[in-house]
Amino acid sequence: MASMTLKKKPMTKEDFRKKWTESHSQLKLAFSDPLRLRYHLQPPMGWLNDPNGLCQKDGVYHIYHQFVPFYPDLCSVFWGHVTTKDFIHYEYHEPVLYPDTAWDANGAYSGCTFQKDGLMHVYYTGNVRHTDKADYDYITEGREQNTVLVTSEDGFHFSEKRLLMANKDYPSDLSLHVRDPQVFSENGRYYMIQGARDLNARGSVLLFESADLISWTYKLRFETAAPFGYMWECPNYLKPDNHRFLIACPQGIQTSGLDYANTNQCGYFPLKYDFEGTDYELGGFHQLDRGFDFYAPQVFQDESGRWILFGWMSTPDAEYDGEQTMEHGWVHAMTIPRELYANSNGALCQRPVKELERMRQGSKRQAFKGSFQHNASVCFELKVRLEYPTEGWALLLRESAILRYRDGILSLDMSACGGGRTVQGVRLSAVHDLHILSDTSSLEIFVNGGAEVFTTRIFDSMKKLQVRFESGQAAGTMEYYELTV
Ligand code: FRU
Repeated sequence: MASMTLKKKPMTKEDFRKKWTESHSQLKLAFSDPLRLRYHLQPPMGWLNDPNGLCQKDGVYHIYHQFVPFYPDLCSVFWGHVTTKDFIHYEYHEPVLYPDTAWDANGAYSGCTFQKDGLMHVYYTGNVRHTDKADYDYITEGREQNTVLVTSEDGFHFSEKRLLMANKDYPSDLSLHVRDPQVFSENGRYYMIQGARDLNARGSVLLFESADLISWTYKLRFETAAPFGYMWECPNYLKPDNHRFLIACPQGIQTSGLDYANTNQCGYFPLKYDFEGTDYELGGFHQLDRGFDFYAPQVFQDESGRWILFGWMSTPDAEYDGEQTMEHGWVHAMTIPRELYANSNGALCQRPVKELERMRQGSKRQAFKGSFQHNASVCFELKVRLEYPTEGWALLLRESAILRYRDGILSLDMSACGGGRTVQGVRLSAVHDLHILSDTSSLEIFVNGGAEVFTTRIFDSMKKLQVRFESGQAAGTMEYYELTV
């Protein structure tokens, strides 16, 4: 019910332009923030959440995102637009989708791009909240979630909006929460998945089929044998290295030991399904990230065939303070882009895209036994290979973040520099390698080839930083680089 108190206003492109030209002082304030990230995508000002519509077209990566530019003055969300050619330098453009029709008046919510014959088909959820009655629950009444299509030749100019599906077109046992379409092709046919909540508060992913990318027929839903959360947001289907996976963000799962520590979850299921018939098998759910700030990732295949993921470097309804940057009028960022691959165990793994290596400067490489210590700049990359892996080590990162491996648990302790973030971890039988990227106010830690990842915002003094490894017997090599944009 808390959301009923939010006053979200629709906003047209003209409204936006007018307000934007009056925003110099807010922009200046945001850009003066020492916490602004140096090589991550972040909002010029205001609020950013999910990555949307990711694609590469004619060599240029288009990254759209959920954007509330004048936050905390709450207008409905629209699609911000950023491009890059190298994943290091980002160019910010005028937003492309505004909540300016009856189908999306309360938000141009998340969606995807599917390219066909050079034409970008952009599918998204038009969110509508009715306010004519005070007691709507916004689950079974008072809400619309429409599937809307726009097309574009260049990623900057878009066609008129076209309504493809409304709630009445989704299966009748669903609540009004159906959103975040992703479109792909398999076996020469087109498919769309959407996240859903049914009337029994059970989450699933719906699968629709189409011959023309316009009319869609419901085919089946992917769900677990036992209910697993009340709503699954932001589904993605991907097939790296010929392994099929379904990514989803289930909401409403209780913390269980080290698992599901954040309020909302994000992970993948190995998927056995050939898109013929309706029999499928979902493997066990595996969290994509064990840190404090990761949600709603989107995956796409670039022109070279790589599967690339951007995640929202935050999480909804976090109990800790994620909004320190709000003093400067901006909040949240994207993760670095990560290439996805399946390892020899069939696990979905993440590694920083290769382009980021171009930021490397001033390297140091050494073999170590027991310990090493090195002064660190705020933007750095550290790779550690443990040739003789043992337990009982701790790695101090920057001022006071600590990664520990003890009693079969790898944990990240942010208690002293996390703005309310504490300790989260994962059970691991061995740690072979670490790959860490630090930016002014973020840390991304890839473990064992990225089979596990910890993503977190960090708020320390940014002065006199180090990387310091301490252990009894662990030995290996370390590589350290300063990163310069
Ligand atoms: C996930 C999400 C999506 C929705 C969007 C709205 O963070 O809730 O399900 O489309 O954000 O901004």
